[in-house]
Amino acid sequence: MTDPDIILSLFSRLRGRFPALEIDSSGQKRLYLNSGAGSLMVDSSIRAMTEAGQLNPMPGQIASPEIATADLHKTVRQLAADFTGARRPEEISFHFSTTGALFNLAFALRKLFQPGKNLLVTDLDHFANITPWETIGRAGGAEIRTARLTSELTLDLKDLLSKVDSNTVLVALTGASNALGTILPLADIISEIKRKSRALVVVDAVHLAPHAPLDVQEFGCDFLAFSGYKIFGPMIGVLYSRTEAQKLASPYRVETNRPEPPYCWEQGMLPNQLLAGLKGAFDYLMDAGSQAKSGDTPTYPRKLFLRAMESIKKYELELSQYFLERWRRMDSPRLKLYGISDPRRALSRTPTFALEILGLKPAEVKRQFWENHRILIADGNHYSAVVVRHLGKKDLNRVSLAHYDGPDSIDRFFDGLEHIIFKLNKSSL
Ligand SMILES: Cc1ncc(COP(=O)(O)O)c(C=O)c1O
Repeated sequence: MTDPDIILSLFSRLRGRFPALEIDSSGQKRLYLNSGAGSLMVDSSIRAMTEAGQLNPMPGQIASPEIATADLHKTVRQLAADFTGARRPEEISFHFSTTGALFNLAFALRKLFQPGKNLLVTDLDHFANITPWETIGRAGGAEIRTARLTSELTLDLKDLLSKVDSNTVLVALTGASNALGTILPLADIISEIKRKSRALVVVDAVHLAPHAPLDVQEFGCDFLAFSGYKIFGPMIGVLYSRTEAQKLASPYRVETNRPEPPYCWEQGMLPNQLLAGLKGAFDYLMDAGSQAKSGDTPTYPRKLFLRAMESIKKYELELSQYFLERWRRMDSPRLKLYGISDPRRALSRTPTFALEILGLKPAEVKRQFWENHRILIADGNHYSAVVVRHLGKKDLNRVSLAHYDGPDSIDRFFDGLEHIIFKLNKSSL
């Protein structure tokens, strides 16, 4: 088989690993097109969480059940390091969520935010990577700057770089927009930022992580966060902190907590079930990586993650192109798509599409998709500054796919869309 054939047969097999793909929690058939809000859980993650109920609650060094729990913590930390490309497991810490991780981080870096200094956030980000910086930065007296968007709703890199100077202490930016799907060329942007300043760079990789490989060495970032429930596992936040950057931080910790990384970054006992579930998701991705190519199968987790995520990226590129081509063919004055819409530029986006049906409120669009077609899409602001600040809208619809979707998911969506537009046109005659 050629590599493209392997990829196609791989993705049709991987779909079978998601028990909730077609059947919702009430046992009904439906199509889930809201993976941007939270991906479906993979079978190995669900199983691992159930089995973790048997674990000894506390990790330890003496009794064998304690050792098993300590081993789980150690294994997941190492896998998270492999998933992100971190050099050592001490650079990984676990948090309640990405939002929680970034609030913790902002607090830990509070001493940097002083009068005369500035920090930069962007209009493309989720508020999880804006509000912590604005809140703690402003409290310390630092100036808050905002990088704007272009008319095509991508980040205006010229504007961003013009706002970085020798007093910039931190730049917070996203890997990919959860509202529009736009992917940023992180390595290029960060190297430019670092050429102009000594600013720390914090990347929100929550939306990027399920769609493309993460590589903190290639990106050149100092911190990066992602969430387990967007990569086919449970709700848990993961933070990468570069060893050199850790030295600039004073994380808040209780006096008796161990003072060295990664422990000093974490508050309280780690959640065993969530860590086991996260490991189940990592195991799935490594399994996908081992099947993604003909020839030798690598055994290193880092290699397996890279293979899995490269294949997912390739496969999803085709999904995005197909979606955008079908959107073009609709050619309806009632339809508006936000973000990159040219199928030839689909490599710069994830299969996450913000859209509007003119003449219908987003909540009504969502209701009609659900009630008439059993398709679950999103409405709302998606906690995204693009929607709230840049477009000044209260809400937009969003259709977001993952690698367990196929062209058939897109066909079903467009059948529903055509029907809704047809009814709307008829009612306004
Ligand atoms: C891009 C992005 N960043 C941050 C978050 C927040 O993640 P968490 O729910 O883990 O705090 C989300 C959640 O939707 C997101 O999409």
